[in-house]
Amino acid sequence: MEIKVLGISGSPHRHGNTETLLDSFLDGAHASGATIEKVVLKTLQYSPCRGCNACHKTGECVVNDDAIILYEKILASDCLSVASPIYTMGITAELKGFIDRQQYIWARKFILKTLYFSDNHIKRHKGIFISTAGLGWENVFDGAFPVITALFNTTGFEYYDNVIANDMDRFGGIRNHPTALKEAFDKGTKVVGILEKLKTGS
Ligand SMILES: Cc1cc2nc3c(=O)[nH]c(=O)nc-3n(C[C@H](O)[C@H](O)[C@H](O)COP(=O)(O)O)c2cc1C
Repeated sequence: MEIKVLGISGSPHRHGNTETLLDSFLDGAHASGATIEKVVLKTLQYSPCRGCNACHKTGECVVNDDAIILYEKILASDCLSVASPIYTMGITAELKGFIDRQQYIWARKFILKTLYFSDNHIKRHKGIFISTAGLGWENVFDGAFPVITALFNTTGFEYYDNVIANDMDRFGGIRNHPTALKEAFDKGTKVVGILEKLKTGS
């Protein structure tokens, strides 16, 4: 039973704190037998949503770029892990610009009603948010959660868990954090086991 885990890195900083944490999650998923793929938004070509609302009538986006290809990958995945550092108390411009492009899927669901995800589908599709922040504040991720919730809701994923690590400034980077990388690996391993059980019905 193949479990497909897609990781999307929204950090413009290649192999920085956030992408490293995502890598650890994906390594855990791979160790559990999943097929993994990582996509780095910074390497793609896509524009932000134009707000033309054409998709409200057609269910299609008029802009045909890498964002559409990535949304097709999302819809074909069993587990979606989305990673972003906290930039100015929210997610990065790269990730927000990409998430806004989901509007055509939102239109299919809520305006045209041509797309519906059953409760059973949502239970079998797990979404995980992965993030790092410089500050030690406990509430430093609060601005990000509603946007990630909107992404998972629109694309049919249960918001299953977070892998978040704050206080990076004090630790001097994710590799010095005492628990985050292991936590990410373990969560990657665990979610694949859960999805396998759900898929096989055991
Ligand atoms: C433009 C910018 C804005 C940032 N804003 C915040 C912020 O509002 N709160 C915070 O805790 N850290 C903030 N940080 C720090 C990053 O969240 C932190 O260093 C993170 O671990 C970087 O991850 P990366 O290596 O994947 O880029 C900011 C960093 C940058 C570059």
